[in-house]
Amino acid sequence: MLIKKKLYIKTWGCQMNTYDSSKIIDLLNSTHGYQITEIVEEADILLLNTCSIREKAQEKLFHQLGRWKKLKDINHNIIIAVGGCVASQEGNSIFKRAPSVDIIFGPQTLHRLPEMINKFKSNGNPIIDITFPEIEKFDYLPDPVAKGPSAYISIMEGCNKYCSFCIVPYTRGEEISRPCDEILFEIVQLAEQGVREVNLLGQNVNAYCGKTFDGANCSFAELLRLVAAIDGINRIRFTTSHPIDFTDDIIDVYADTPELVNFLHLPVQSGSDRILNMMKRSYTILEYKNIIRKLRKVRPGILISSDFIVGFPGETESDFHHTMQLIYDINFDMSFSFIYSPRPGTPAAYLSDNVSYYEKKQRLYILQKRINQQAINHSAAMLGSIQRILVEGISHKNIMELAGRTENNRLVVFEGTHNMIGKFVDIEIINVYANSLRGKILRTEDEMQLIN
Ligand code: SAH
Ligand code: F3S
Repeated sequence: MLIKKKLYIKTWGCQMNTYDSSKIIDLLNSTHGYQITEIVEEADILLLNTCSIREKAQEKLFHQLGRWKKLKDINHNIIIAVGGCVASQEGNSIFKRAPSVDIIFGPQTLHRLPEMINKFKSNGNPIIDITFPEIEKFDYLPDPVAKGPSAYISIMEGCNKYCSFCIVPYTRGEEISRPCDEILFEIVQLAEQGVREVNLLGQNVNAYCGKTFDGANCSFAELLRLVAAIDGINRIRFTTSHPIDFTDDIIDVYADTPELVNFLHLPVQSGSDRILNMMKRSYTILEYKNIIRKLRKVRPGILISSDFIVGFPGETESDFHHTMQLIYDINFDMSFSFIYSPRPGTPAAYLSDNVSYYEKKQRLYILQKRINQQAINHSAAMLGSIQRILVEGISHKNIMELAGRTENNRLVVFEGTHNMIGKFVDIEIINVYANSLRGKILRTEDEMQLIN
């Protein structure tokens, strides 16, 4: 009997990394037959997909590699590979500090992993490839495989914005958009496998500018319309967009394209123009509010979530007050908010900082408490309403129930039957909890079609 080789993969950080890891799993399965395992001790290859956006990523990496070295001391045949943004940043120095590592790859070279593994197996020499070879990555990935009714599709890579605090442009390279037809083809393939919702991924999706088949440019707004026209795709989400590229043609799509969900994640980072300027974000609070105002004109109920950095070097009480004021004014729903963490090599890391860590922690606490309260209020307002949800599967908490998501990303649990999984149902919200909602089915998808 042929024993399948096992792959253990650990992923840090963002949705981009989660997407990359799922592609690595599919790729190594198709080229080498590797099967994913959750048990680290039984793995033939250990793979770490790192993220360096915050925290002490380098230290975390070497701690993890120390633990894996112990496994390799027992089984010399294990291959250890490190990828992602820390690999891109640290490069060769990883081999020096952790000689048990065999392969180092970057976010743009993961498609070369099969070849790197073969080479390593043939001569046992460590291999590194952290280059940024244009967009070839996508040409070498296997056909997409649906993992449920919702799927991620990368539409662009990298970032050109160089916000003064951020490491991404250095680790993931310049903005490159995938050709439009390639994206559409991938989504059609997924739709044929039952996918109903797509989440278009990229560091700055609204800076998208891809080529069409005949060499013309396709903007993000145009791409959204093309995706909405694909048979079977009823919901479109995207992460993440930048206020500076949030042009009026995108707002026009919200006006006439119901497939675009009534929920937008639009990172603002701070409510103080002084701090935004130091962050090199290239917009003012008035401009940010103007986008939201126009959006709410065409989509009155749209919920907005955001990213915040608290305690940027020199952030005063007054700057923080402006951030809190913006949080009230926009009435944000949820946020990813963190204390500023200096990233080596970025301009902000050289700014002097007179705000104590204690003060920063207090500000973060105040900010998160307020936004959580607003999120609870938004959920409470949904009580008694009718929501269309996409049924993702069986509830993790109770196997007798199903779970799915509303357009505004709330998890809803309800009693239903297995044939509803992967389809839409209309639900009345009958209870609201801190992290989920409970609902009662009003109509199944078949019944909707009779009504619509
Ligand atoms: N374009 C991507 C940005 C990735 S970084 C996106 O918008 O998703 C994701 C978030 O991490 C940023 O919006 C920012 O709020 C946070 N972040 C980035 N660098 C940081 C740093 N040095 N310290 C704290 N938070 C940071
Ligand atoms: Fe980072 Fe700013 Fe780009 S947060 S990913 S440099 S938009």
